[in-house]
Amino acid sequence: MAPRPLIAGNWKMNGLLASEQELQKLIGGVAASDGSQREVLVCPPFTLLQAFAKRAAGSAVGIGAQDCHPNLSGAHTGDISAQMIKDVGGTSIIVGHSERRTDHGESSDLVKQKAKAAQDEGLTAIICVGETEAERDAGQAWSVVSDQVSKSLPSGSTASNTVIAYEPVWAIGTGRTPTIDDIAAMHDDLRTAMVGHLGDDGNSVRLLYGGSMKPGNATEILAVTNVNGGLVGGASLKAEDFLAIISAAS
Ligand code: PGA
Repeated sequence: MAPRPLIAGNWKMNGLLASEQELQKLIGGVAASDGSQREVLVCPPFTLLQAFAKRAAGSAVGIGAQDCHPNLSGAHTGDISAQMIKDVGGTSIIVGHSERRTDHGESSDLVKQKAKAAQDEGLTAIICVGETEAERDAGQAWSVVSDQVSKSLPSGSTASNTVIAYEPVWAIGTGRTPTIDDIAAMHDDLRTAMVGHLGDDGNSVRLLYGGSMKPGNATEILAVTNVNGGLVGGASLKAEDFLAIISAAS
């Protein structure tokens, strides 16, 4: 049986306290739709994490974070740990997003440590992978992605504590997406790789597509075999758009 789809919103560095109204609209919309078929997650910036987790408590919307430090606590100015995220009600952590790999020089080895920190706290690690345009043009998309997966996946990963998000770097925030055939091929290869890493459990790991997913293309992308949901940036900021994507997964 295909894993239950997950639609996750990555708010990135967007949102102020007033954005709680948008979350409230989302919670209302999700409650009014049939929630049995998919899971919904919103990952706001750290400043909103606690308020959002309180607001979403008891609803069908989960709240997660966009990054964490590998350690539980200590002298790491400006960082936030998985334990802190759990403490305020977060259930999942995005790790290894390409914007962090690029802006902060994060290696797959560091991403693995962050994913492990999330899993050790009982949280779900959403591990992001994806090739650049130059890598795709050079025919290296799969070798880059499979290398990122092998190096970013901690031992002890399972279908319940791990999600993989395939996000081609060139599709993020650009309005461009790969062809449906390219998405299907990448997700089939990812499925085979996850079974290679985790055995049978690899069949149940959710494989999200991310990169310019929007109401207009979500139905087609989410219908692809081995696409088990989406990681949505820009289109997750407005409840109306995000709800349209969520309903495409239902
Ligand atoms: P986008 O971002 O939907 O704005 O392209 C996706 C992501 O980076 O997670």
